[in-house]
Amino acid sequence: MCIMAYRLLALAVAFGRAAHCQSVPLAAPGCSPESLGLAAATNGIKILSSKTHSVTNYTFVNDQVENVTAADFFDFCNVTLSYTHPGWNDTVHLTTYLPPDWNGRFLALGGGGMAAGGEALLHLSPKLVTMLLKRRFAISTTDGGHPSDLEAAVDVNPPWVFTSPGNIDLSMLVNFASRSLHDMAVLGKALIRGAYGVGPEYAYFFGASTGGQQGHMLAQRYPDDFDGIVANKPGINWDKFFFSNVYAKLTMDLAGEYPSPCELDALSAAAVNACDELDGVRDGIISHPGICTFDPRTMAGNPFDCNGVPSTFSKIATEVAHAAYTGPRGPNGEFRWYGFSKDVPLHANGTGPAAVVCPEASTNRSSCSPPAFHMSDLWLRYFYAKDASLDLSSITREQFDDLFLTAVNEYESIIGTADPDLSRFKRAGGKMLSWHGMADQLVPVNGSTDYYDRVLAKDGEAQDFYRLFLAPGADHDVAGPGVSDEDCIDYIVDWVEHGRANDTLSAAGITPMGVATRRDICMYPRVQHYRGGDPSLSTSFACA
Ligand SMILES: *[C@@H]1O[C@H](CO)[C@@H](O)[C@H](O)[C@H]1NC(C)=O
Ligand SMILES: *[C@@H]1O[C@H](CO)[C@@H](O)[C@H](O)[C@H]1NC(C)=O
Ligand SMILES: *[C@@H]1O[C@H](CO)[C@@H](O)[C@H](O)[C@H]1NC(C)=O
Ligand SMILES: *[C@@H]1O[C@H](CO)[C@@H](O)[C@H](O)[C@H]1NC(C)=O
Ligand SMILES: *[C@@H]1O[C@H](CO)[C@@H](O)[C@H](O)[C@H]1NC(C)=O
Ligand SMILES: *[C@@H]1O[C@H](CO)[C@@H](O)[C@H](O)[C@H]1NC(C)=O
Ligand SMILES: *[C@@H]1O[C@H](CO)[C@@H](O)[C@H](O)[C@H]1NC(C)=O
Ligand SMILES: *[C@@H]1O[C@H](CO)[C@@H](O)[C@H](O)[C@H]1NC(C)=O
Repeated sequence: MCIMAYRLLALAVAFGRAAHCQSVPLAAPGCSPESLGLAAATNGIKILSSKTHSVTNYTFVNDQVENVTAADFFDFCNVTLSYTHPGWNDTVHLTTYLPPDWNGRFLALGGGGMAAGGEALLHLSPKLVTMLLKRRFAISTTDGGHPSDLEAAVDVNPPWVFTSPGNIDLSMLVNFASRSLHDMAVLGKALIRGAYGVGPEYAYFFGASTGGQQGHMLAQRYPDDFDGIVANKPGINWDKFFFSNVYAKLTMDLAGEYPSPCELDALSAAAVNACDELDGVRDGIISHPGICTFDPRTMAGNPFDCNGVPSTFSKIATEVAHAAYTGPRGPNGEFRWYGFSKDVPLHANGTGPAAVVCPEASTNRSSCSPPAFHMSDLWLRYFYAKDASLDLSSITREQFDDLFLTAVNEYESIIGTADPDLSRFKRAGGKMLSWHGMADQLVPVNGSTDYYDRVLAKDGEAQDFYRLFLAPGADHDVAGPGVSDEDCIDYIVDWVEHGRANDTLSAAGITPMGVATRRDICMYPRVQHYRGGDPSLSTSFACA
């Protein structure tokens, strides 16, 4: 979803387990466009060029990874396919690495932020890619026709959005949202057939954040493409949730008053203090948000300590906190979308959902300003308002709400990714795994439970093919006890290939109190309960 997504993709992963599939050697003559049969016609796609490189002894790891060994160097056939959808005036690049000693599985990798994927992302995720190549997956990633480096992913003024000022490039948008993902499945499998003489025994998709949206899109719209999908902390409800990230900002900008960072920090501390122990253990984590009735507005006028200076909570600070927790509302209080959990730090040194950034050494608070989450800034200005020059700091409540309604009307079917009908995915035998941190500060976790509830309402047996796990205290990046990429790969492979699927996922990380902790996180709608004992041990908790 944001720059953080890359850190997620670059999470440390341990060495791979032995693969279950049989190895298939790359058929002679190997790595050339002719041998891969790339000229084959595919409906709706025209191949523009194909490049192959026989890569030997290549490593993705660098000083980010300690103790590089010979096992971190790989040989593979690097295939870059450039193609267009005739009439769309696009050029999409699909990158595929085919290992000589293949494990029989295809794995497509998703993107992050405004990057659909692409080879640049692989180089930003050395540990993940190393783990996959070590386990001898054939992997693909697509740039969707867009720039794919880190700068592109966080670019608040992407060059491709408009064909001309005010006119959205719908082909490029559809490529980003869905189409290029399906192409990746079709073309990736075709390349594998060309290279190895057989198609993949199993096809997987792995993504988080924007990649999580992509995984859900594939399950909803292209249910035959992948046997197994990992789609973590997903940016589903795409048309709605960017408003959650800037609702506290709207509240401040409308009032023209900006709480001091220490006031916001003190309110976050008060919220955690009020609700932390409702789950039975004081660890800085609110595991049972449903019974947390803390209302920050009751704190107005109460004293707090601002870096040693006795202060009292201002009305605006408590209203800003309330806005961050409740999420966006219409002019008459209509529910629009969810807010953030009360253990999400409001300010978080300028990165939280109600952050206020003040000029250094300034005591004049009216010169402070609330930054907008870059994805919200981009989507509200470009896609919804269609006016890159719009200043989000000076819109009215009505304009804000109009943008929300426009977003839903114009974009839900394109990129909302919230269709609860997964019956075709079920029929195709697909399996989807998702985990989401309950302290996610970028994608409100209730978007995942809202979607899951709607899937369950349609199909009470949905857990047989789609599972959501909530991780108390985990944020969107790597803070708090979260699940490793490799454990997710193990889980989906075991589920798809052996029908084995645990009811819990193992999470590990540091609590806000600085304690290294393990938790077996629960399959939604079950929630984690403290049984007693050392709260850093997973055995002290159970799912109920
Ligand atoms: C691969 O490259 C590494 C680092 O340059 C080198 O130490 C190793 O000997 C090479 N392995 C082979 C098989 O060439
Ligand atoms: C790297 O090797 C050193 C020395 O053997 C060891 O102390 C360290 O724990 C290793 N680091 C990792 C991440 O394995
Ligand atoms: C793969 O091929 C593309 C296109 O030729 C090239 O840009 C890229 O650097 C190659 N990657 C590796 C790891 O060799
Ligand atoms: C096609 O896209 C290129 C940039 O990618 C642009 O320069 C050109 O004007 C476009 N052509 C049409 C017909 O839209
Ligand atoms: C958000 O989800 C949590 C966990 O499922 C639930 O307890 C809470 O009531 C939800 N909050 C809202 C505002 O719906
Ligand atoms: C807070 O943010 C500032 C500015 O981005 C940064 O320099 C500083 O290191 C951050 N502090 C902490 C504790 O993260
Ligand atoms: C505070 O900053 C605002 C906006 O930058 C400015 O208009 C105002 O004059 C400043 N007030 C003081 C007391 O410096
Ligand atoms: C399932 O749970 C068992 C027992 O905790 C564990 O050993 C195994 O690794 C888990 N399997 C997966 C795929 O996570």
